[in-house]
Amino acid sequence: DWTMAAFRAEAIARIRAQVGEGRVVCGLSGGVDSSVAAVLIHEAIGDQLTCIFVDHGVMRAGEAEQVIRTFRDRFNIKLVHRDASDLFLGQLEGVTDPEKKRKTIGRLFIEVFEEEQAKIGGAEFLAQGTLYPDVIESVSATGGPSVTIKSHHNVGGLPEDMRMRLVEPLRDLFKDEVRALGRELGMPEEIVGRHPFPGPGLAIRIPGEVTREKVQILQKADSIFLEEIRAAGLYDAIWQAFTVLLPVRTVGVMGDGRTYDQACALRAVTSTDGMTADVYPFTMEFLTRVAGRIVNEVRGINRVTYDITSKPPGTIEWE
Ligand code: XMP
Repeated sequence: DWTMAAFRAEAIARIRAQVGEGRVVCGLSGGVDSSVAAVLIHEAIGDQLTCIFVDHGVMRAGEAEQVIRTFRDRFNIKLVHRDASDLFLGQLEGVTDPEKKRKTIGRLFIEVFEEEQAKIGGAEFLAQGTLYPDVIESVSATGGPSVTIKSHHNVGGLPEDMRMRLVEPLRDLFKDEVRALGRELGMPEEIVGRHPFPGPGLAIRIPGEVTREKVQILQKADSIFLEEIRAAGLYDAIWQAFTVLLPVRTVGVMGDGRTYDQACALRAVTSTDGMTADVYPFTMEFLTRVAGRIVNEVRGINRVTYDITSKPPGTIEWE
């Protein structure tokens, strides 16, 4: 794609001009935006870039490993991986309010990120995968153009007192353009085509208290749902698809016995920007196959529902 090839070359020149001999840190989340930003910046300045990946313990199954594989092994990017799941899950104990979950995770993310950054000796620049819609959103939210850090929509939103200069090479792009740039950079489809995933991760897909056990149950159900979506060739037609672990126990029968386990909801929507969304019209055959697999394969879940609410009036997430 000619436009993206030109954008890539220009962006690389701009990053080099801005950063000079300086050092840059970048928080990686596994999402499209921070991933493309990291690969682009790495292409511009190589080992002057260090990525920090804070694993908050509420990622999807296998996602942490995938981030490490991709960035360290495939792109040769200097990557600090900090498994902070004990810290996050410990602090989430007893927290049931959705906003409090977000704040807890956001606060810890910054703490851990700063710790790791100090360990590597600091850097003058902080890279962020801020997109054009994020810029607009922050401007309208704050009434002024000064704050462009993703705050609500990313755990990676860092406080102003970090006083680092920002490197934001994707500021002029929309999501589809970021994906095109990622492809231009030779990034694998499993990253550039990935559905959006919220910064607070599975914590906001577990209404009520988050525990390690619930996270594990949800990860299993979620993997089955996504595996079936991929196998049916539907992944790219869907904006986001995930499972919500409901704080409700229901009675079921399994073999000769009764079960009394949790229910889950499947959520899958189409959208262009996440602002509005429509339910994805799966066939009943597909839904019953997924439900059958989840109930049979995931201990702890004995009932599956499909959320058919559009946005508005619903939201995409349940919290
Ligand atoms: P809702 O649920 O508001 O979500 O319809 C719209 C989009 O935003 C994502 N989302 C978040 N992303 N931190 C994030 O980084 C958050 O706290 C958060 N809450 C919602 C959601 O997944 C969807 O793409």
